[in-house]
Amino acid sequence: MTAGSARGRGWKPHARSVAKVQDAARTGRGVYLGLGAHGWAWSGAQRSTLVLGPSRSGKTSALVVPNVLSAPGAVLATSTKPDVLRATARARASAGWCLAFDPTGELELPPGVHRVGWSPVSAAREWHGALEVADAMVRTARGRPTGAIGAGSEGHWSERAAALLAPLLHAASLDGVSMRGVLRWVDRHDGAPALDALSARLGDDAVATDLLAGILSTDPREQSGIWSTASGVLAAYRAPGALASTETPLLDPDSFCAGAHTLYVCAPAARQKLLAPLVVAMLSEVRDAAYRRAAGSSASDGAPVLFALDEVANIAPLPDLPSLVTEGPGQGLLTLACLQDLSQARARWGTEADAFVSIFGTTVVLGGIADMRTLEALSALSGDREVRSRTIGFSDGAGGRQVSATDATVLRRRLPADVVARGLDGWALCVDARNRLGWVRLTPAHDTWPWRDCISPDRGRSQRLPGSTGWPWRAGGPTRSDGVGVALGGRSP
Ligand SMILES: Nc1ncnc2c1ncn2[C@@H]1O[C@H](COP(=O)(O)OP(=O)(O)O)[C@@H](O)[C@H]1O
Ligand SMILES: [Mg+2]
Repeated sequence: MTAGSARGRGWKPHARSVAKVQDAARTGRGVYLGLGAHGWAWSGAQRSTLVLGPSRSGKTSALVVPNVLSAPGAVLATSTKPDVLRATARARASAGWCLAFDPTGELELPPGVHRVGWSPVSAAREWHGALEVADAMVRTARGRPTGAIGAGSEGHWSERAAALLAPLLHAASLDGVSMRGVLRWVDRHDGAPALDALSARLGDDAVATDLLAGILSTDPREQSGIWSTASGVLAAYRAPGALASTETPLLDPDSFCAGAHTLYVCAPAARQKLLAPLVVAMLSEVRDAAYRRAAGSSASDGAPVLFALDEVANIAPLPDLPSLVTEGPGQGLLTLACLQDLSQARARWGTEADAFVSIFGTTVVLGGIADMRTLEALSALSGDREVRSRTIGFSDGAGGRQVSATDATVLRRRLPADVVARGLDGWALCVDARNRLGWVRLTPAHDTWPWRDCISPDRGRSQRLPGSTGWPWRAGGPTRSDGVGVALGGRSP
């Protein structure tokens, strides 16, 4: 990065700029959009935002990075590249813990960003948690994000695989078995240890015990199909990096949501098919924690949790994104989701994607979109205006050449599809909750004050440790040996 070499390794976020950004954060006006006619433009409190723009149109630098920097509460940022992490970790570390969930195990983390694990087993401590995590993983892996999971023959295997995984994960959680152990059960088609655990801990009448016992008593061919489907859902865990990401220190979603912490979730696009089920299941658990926080008294500070979902269709295709977007803001969770265009959404969320522009409170459209249906939908929102036209005609008659004029009124789109497609260089078209359209000037973080002074020009050296309380780890967080425990002086997790 050129700015990095100019500013050098000792770079620190500029105090005045950070103060400006933090002031902005306290305003609580939703998602930051750019510069409007009256200064900084926001989506409005409790309004999630959809960003549509092709590659290199500015989604990450002009929308995701400023919002991660200015979020007053916890931020979960997904990305297929470490760009958001590298740009924002230093500034975010002054507000809270910076954590990274990297299911490849290959990401090089800047100093001060701590690797954190997440395991479906820990999400399955409660039976409803086990059902949710199994459902999210199976849906994401099998590409049936919404609607009934069990329709058709494909749906039959998905439904059965979820019905098998839920009791297996719950049994492992109750019995202290790791994800490695669950994978072994699935690969060996061996449900007996889990059935014993459920029977001993919950009794033979429990729903989880019944469900697993029922599957284990189906005929061998059917059962083999169910085990194979479940095995496919867990395929990501065949890579050692993914399996290592289920080990401690594990993320504690409740503590994470309680402070201005940042969790970076990075998974390369090339492996998103395998890794998306893990990411989606983890996001679902953090979402539930955010909702719990809003329902409890600890949400009195009013700072919502922000899901900054860059490349959402690839890395975080949450089955229930539509309900996250509509119900989340009222429950302490804002979403900023970035997509290339609505065709990318249609491939993941089916026909529900056609309603994305209306269910997100605000949509930001960057120039260069090529998908005609997206362009038409946006153009239609602009409405029509009457254009008067006059047609001049000539006719030759006995009296010589006659000239006639005919006036007519035709309807034209206020914003034709080609204008939406081209966009305006450096500007974004915004659609608000009442479908009103307007232009906002983009403020790329690397180029615009104050964001420019808050983003890391390089990976730098050690970072100041956060002063906030609370450990976003379930167990085994940083210890005295790496100096973090000493500086924090916190209680052990
Ligand atoms: N830190 C940076 N320094 C200079 N240019 C950048 C930086 N980050 C992004 N850009 C440029 O800004 C443009 C938009 O990039 P980006 O925000 O990553 O787009 P998108 O996320 O839509 O793919 C690109 O031309 C990119 O090269
Ligand atoms: Mg990007």
